[in-house]
Amino acid sequence: MDALECIRTRMSIRSYRKDPVPRDVFERIVEIARWSPSYKNTQPWEVVIVSGKKKEALSEMLIELLEKGEPPCPDIPEPEGWPEVNQERIERLYRLRAEKMGIDLTDPEVIKKAKVANFNFYGAPHAIYLYQDSSLPLWSLFDIGLFAQSLMLAAHALGVATVPQAFATDYAKYIKDFLGIPQSKRLVLGISAGYPDQDSPANTLRPDRAALDEILMWVE
Ligand SMILES: Cc1cc2nc3c(=O)[nH]c(=O)nc-3n(C[C@H](O)[C@H](O)[C@H](O)COP(=O)(O)O)c2cc1C
Repeated sequence: MDALECIRTRMSIRSYRKDPVPRDVFERIVEIARWSPSYKNTQPWEVVIVSGKKKEALSEMLIELLEKGEPPCPDIPEPEGWPEVNQERIERLYRLRAEKMGIDLTDPEVIKKAKVANFNFYGAPHAIYLYQDSSLPLWSLFDIGLFAQSLMLAAHALGVATVPQAFATDYAKYIKDFLGIPQSKRLVLGISAGYPDQDSPANTLRPDRAALDEILMWVE
């Protein structure tokens, strides 16, 4: 697969097979992702991959916190609102999900179920967390985003599916304790990873994108 096809065909996968991804495949993925660019080559990214019984226990802990109504404590605060153009794109995505999968993400009960699915890492055998030191500047958040995309593209090129998940960082304080990550770190993103369940309707949803003329300006 070439780079263009890899970027074009990567998509968020929300249903997985149970069989694990071998450690050497993950090593290749992270080895490639580390070639991402970063501000002054600071490489402000750290990665943890959680598997097996530990991943199950992590899911249980997150669902328990949700069930008992523990308020979320993400290191990156949840957005309070969006500019109109972005809000419209969110609503379009929600409409698509409702039409295709009967999931109404404006219903609080459905949102709770969606959180449980996130905390279960959509049944994936692995959960990846990206983190960095909290004292790093805003540019480093940009850099770790580039790293996240490189990691997901490398995974895709090797047949490993992923979905990036802000929700999976909801209980950052607890997750860091569980994983042995110092509280001085900023937990940036959770990513489920594994082999895709090709038969699942959850994996047929490919949200569209804004047209080129909405995002591209020429000045000549
Ligand atoms: C920073 C970030 C956070 C996201 N958080 C979640 C999440 O918590 N749960 C989820 O199911 N998808 C999450 N997504 C996936 C987006 O919904 C998805 O990327 C978007 O709808 C486009 O779909 P695609 O990835 O299939 O192209 C997130 C994506 C990004 C980049």
